[in-house]
Amino acid sequence: MLASLQATRSLSEITNMRIVLLGAPGSGKGTQATLLKNRLNVPHISTGEILRAAVAAGTPLGIHAKAVMATGALVSDDIVLGMLEERFRQDDVQRGFILDGYPRNLAQARALDQLLTRLALPIDKALQLDVGEQMLLARLAGRATAEGRADDSPQAVAHRLHVYQEQTAPVIDYYQRSGALVRVPGEGSVDQILERIIAALG
Ligand code: AP5
Repeated sequence: MLASLQATRSLSEITNMRIVLLGAPGSGKGTQATLLKNRLNVPHISTGEILRAAVAAGTPLGIHAKAVMATGALVSDDIVLGMLEERFRQDDVQRGFILDGYPRNLAQARALDQLLTRLALPIDKALQLDVGEQMLLARLAGRATAEGRADDSPQAVAHRLHVYQEQTAPVIDYYQRSGALVRVPGEGSVDQILERIIAALG
């Protein structure tokens, strides 16, 4: 009884949370964010999804981003920040959000802090999904076969992992220093990982 009361309390306490989801390509950010948004009733904001939608729509931004993304490199900071500012003008972010795919480097981390301070929506938690490289490669190879995403080719995956190590991994220390970082083991079943995330946020 006590345990169930505690579980209920911790779930209610984590509503309205503003979460940054961190992790290497293939670590399960998109998979977990899709489930977590329903549990927390907050929007999922994925910069990768916004960019892929622009590519599919053939907008000027999409035409520019398509070539960059196919190589596994990062789209320019200015473009992605502009896109994000537009998304944060929507009212639904007032009830919290899960931000997936941003920040990808220290400049983006600082720009995000400035933007969210201006909007009075500071980050509560930065949640890092830890997954070993062999598992990342296996998952991305599986998705390449199943879905044929343009940047899941072996060359693009190798570059995405390199970019992650060089530019994105330092962002983990950034949130460690701010006190917002929580780390969750990201190997196991999708449901097991979701429960670990819920426990870590509570
Ligand atoms: P983005 O879309 O953010 O891609 P990514 O970070 O490379 O991440 P992925 O989507 O590959 O992986 P994920 O961690 O979401 O894992 P998923 O849940 O899909 O970015 C794409 C590109 O856009 C970038 O390279 C860049 O060019 C550009 N971009 C985006 N944001 C940018 C920014 N801020 N600045 C500049 N450029 C930016 O899972 C992967 C696979 O594993 C799936 O098939 C899934 O079904 C499977 N899986 C997941 N969990 C499990 C599990 N527990 N067990 C078994 N399989 C699992």
